[in-house]
Amino acid sequence: MTPTDRATFNRIVRDEMAGLPMENHDAALGMPLTVVGFGADEVLAAMECLLTTRVTMGAEVRAFEAEWAAWCGRSQGVMVNSGSSANLLALDGLVELGRMKRGDEVLVPAVGWSTTLFPIVQAGLVPVVVDVNTSSLCMDPAAARAARTSRTRAAMPVHLLGQAADLSGYDDLIVLEDACAAHGATSAGRRIGSLGGAATFSFFFSHHITTVEGGIIVTDDAELADAMRSLRAHGWVRERTDRADWIARYPEIDARFLFVSAGYNLRPTDMAGAFGRIQLKRLDAWVQRRRENHAAWCAMLADIPGITVFPELPGTEHAGFAFAILVDPAVWSGGRRPLMAKLEAVGIETRPISGSNLVRQPAFQRLVDQGADIRIPGPLTVADQVHEHGFFVGNSHAFGLQHGARLAERIRQAR
Ligand SMILES: Cc1ncc(COP(=O)(O)O)c(C=O)c1O
Repeated sequence: MTPTDRATFNRIVRDEMAGLPMENHDAALGMPLTVVGFGADEVLAAMECLLTTRVTMGAEVRAFEAEWAAWCGRSQGVMVNSGSSANLLALDGLVELGRMKRGDEVLVPAVGWSTTLFPIVQAGLVPVVVDVNTSSLCMDPAAARAARTSRTRAAMPVHLLGQAADLSGYDDLIVLEDACAAHGATSAGRRIGSLGGAATFSFFFSHHITTVEGGIIVTDDAELADAMRSLRAHGWVRERTDRADWIARYPEIDARFLFVSAGYNLRPTDMAGAFGRIQLKRLDAWVQRRRENHAAWCAMLADIPGITVFPELPGTEHAGFAFAILVDPAVWSGGRRPLMAKLEAVGIETRPISGSNLVRQPAFQRLVDQGADIRIPGPLTVADQVHEHGFFVGNSHAFGLQHGARLAERIRQAR
């Protein structure tokens, strides 16, 4: 392509995508779960990869890994194809290094995402399912403390829907933060993702920023990062920083196909890396808008009878992934479902609060039936409330005060 052709090409893409990413969404149109958060810059960056045919994991991914890790205040980033893969890879990496062994226990909240809990079983570890608390809907440290045994080696708190979980009490454990839906949340002035031994993020289409599909693990643990780089890509040695040592140790095996761990293929594409680098530049402003929405909407809904919302906790900054609501069935006859239906009817999309009480999901029962070693040491009272009476609506960088006002108005009308 000549420079002139290229300029024309770029202009066509920009015209085609004019107005994207959408920065302001009309509240009268409702509240979709996701407002498209990418535009011509991301598409052109991805096209550059396609046009140069450098499409598989390469320079863009490496650059994004470094930029994302720095943004989190960490030294290492390992990008993968989803947040779910990030959870699996982090756990497997810890097992691979012998930091945890099969049968060790991992504290995990009952309310989180399916692929927070399932990878613990897949890695041969034992989930110890702990209740959440009523203030944050995140893992309750007191319940977690009561659940511990001599086999407990790790905690995997979830920063649920953008609220930073309380990580106190896990100092002697390996802490793997599931920050897949909490980009930009902080606790005591520190960005989540920098608090535990490692943290995972998702860049799925509906998250704070997106690489279409994608995820990353951040850590300061260079050994863990190396283990994950092998496990991410077939188990081979190529992306490890200590590859020279391995290659020297196995001179009879062609270094190009030298496999040092029993790995997967969880690699991202370079288009995803290119997307992420542009999205990251947008993130701070977008998180700020989500946080302001969250605070304002909490205030707007606070006095509606039978409705509980979850304001940002002192000492934390909420990342406003989605807006959680609990419905009191004593006040709302029929519970949450008629309200959710009325909101959906006016374009306000709703969902349960993530996987809600995960032990009540059929997949959990299936694991138990298959003989998986899982412990539920105490009652899951709050998780049950969430399961039966909770739902969320979307938050977005493209929403504002008027979305909260309309949400409050529609909920009042629904009674
Ligand atoms: C807390 C949590 N963990 C893990 C995931 C999985 O991320 P992905 O959809 O990228 O696999 C999600 C997805 O929303 C999530 O909310």
